[in-house]
Amino acid sequence: MKICVIGTGYVGLVSGTCFSEIGNNVACVDIDKKKIDKLNNGFVPIFEPGLEELIKRNVKHKRLNFSSKIEDNIKSSDIVFICVGTPTNKKSNQADLKQVFKVAKLIKNNLNKYKIIVNKSTVPVTTGDKIEKILNTKKNKNKFDVISNPEFLREGEAIRDFMYPDRVVIGSNSKKANSVMKNLYLPILKKRSRYFNCSRRAAELIKYASNAFLATKITFINEMANLCEKSNIDVKDISIGMGLDERIGDRFLRAGPAYGGSCFPKDTRALVTTAKSFNTDLSIVKTVINSNQNRNNLLNKRILKLLNNKINNKIITFLGVTFKAGTDDMRESPCLDMIPFLLKKGSTIKYYDPSGEKTNFFINKNVKFSPNIKDACNGADLIIIHTEWNEFKQINFRKLNKNKNLKVFDLRNLYSPSLMKKINIRYYGIGR
Ligand code: UGA
Repeated sequence: MKICVIGTGYVGLVSGTCFSEIGNNVACVDIDKKKIDKLNNGFVPIFEPGLEELIKRNVKHKRLNFSSKIEDNIKSSDIVFICVGTPTNKKSNQADLKQVFKVAKLIKNNLNKYKIIVNKSTVPVTTGDKIEKILNTKKNKNKFDVISNPEFLREGEAIRDFMYPDRVVIGSNSKKANSVMKNLYLPILKKRSRYFNCSRRAAELIKYASNAFLATKITFINEMANLCEKSNIDVKDISIGMGLDERIGDRFLRAGPAYGGSCFPKDTRALVTTAKSFNTDLSIVKTVINSNQNRNNLLNKRILKLLNNKINNKIITFLGVTFKAGTDDMRESPCLDMIPFLLKKGSTIKYYDPSGEKTNFFINKNVKFSPNIKDACNGADLIIIHTEWNEFKQINFRKLNKNKNLKVFDLRNLYSPSLMKKINIRYYGIGR
């Protein structure tokens, strides 16, 4: 199958590479020539474990190539994937579809034979209808099907999520397109994964509803954690006890800081706005968004309390600053709210992150990057474990606690409170 993937961002690069890995001939195209040059020189612009090796192998076997000749590659392909960004429009809170429609117009002008146009960008319900309308000229009649195929990839786990999906959702009423898509995904449809065909609008909504539901699950357990803190219960027990019910399941029931990243915050906001345009009030999702925003304030207050409200000139260390482990992504990371708050109160911030120094903090001389855990923790009045990177799970705190007054606030509950007590660390977690 000849595939053209438009957009070499996160979704496009991972999906295109994985489609080539399962035997297709894939061209990943982008208007950004510099990015394409870099990719052609072996430089991978995103941080995703395993991706670089996969790209190298498939480029070597000539199944994968990168190009800025978008028109030519649209023409020579059977399937065109739209994988461009849909950032939040700050004014409307809705997904900004400029890039999606720009690509649709380009496809419209280059439809030389029947093609399946697959939208993989996260878009509000009815976007597929609008793309179809753009393509539907006299010349293009019967030459295309527009379908929705949302992605469910997690950053840091994207290759595994692609190769071993729980489900592949295809939104289309076209039998022809549906059968081509089923064949395309056949090599990765394992026993436990399901190929689910539904209407295009349903597929578009499944994506948002899934992210909103997961965000709700996290927010729910975070609020339970607040109650646990006041009632001397460990929220980990609640997650395990609830999760044992198969109807609930224990995944995405880890209490922690506010959820972040490029998806949950953006998609929950966009879903509420979409619903509003259909005169529907999604009160639960709205509450989740508010509760998540309040979570930062709550944790900021807790930090003040842990330092007895004497925060001026205190050194606070962040272990991990990305929104989660396995990525270098800082988008909507909770620390981007916490660090400015603490700086305003007069503290100095040190941080170490396995994915390296962050440009977000370049402008502030009171935020310093440390090259390792030991250096970051040296002299700290409070250590905050912010991100659950593997290398933070086995820190030798006994060794670090030479001056016997180490204080640790573990936002990811990585350590046992009783073991920390044994080695004289003043240890605080979430919901325990
Ligand atoms: C999320 C979804 O999990 C993917 O299925 C989806 O495809 C993707 O968004 C997207 O729409 O593109 P991602 O944003 O990469 O993936 O990250 P997650 O692993 O879902 O984590 C999101 C946030 O939830 C993080 O801040 C994480 O720390 C938090 N989280 C997750 C918790 O606080 N507790 C949990 O139990 C799980």
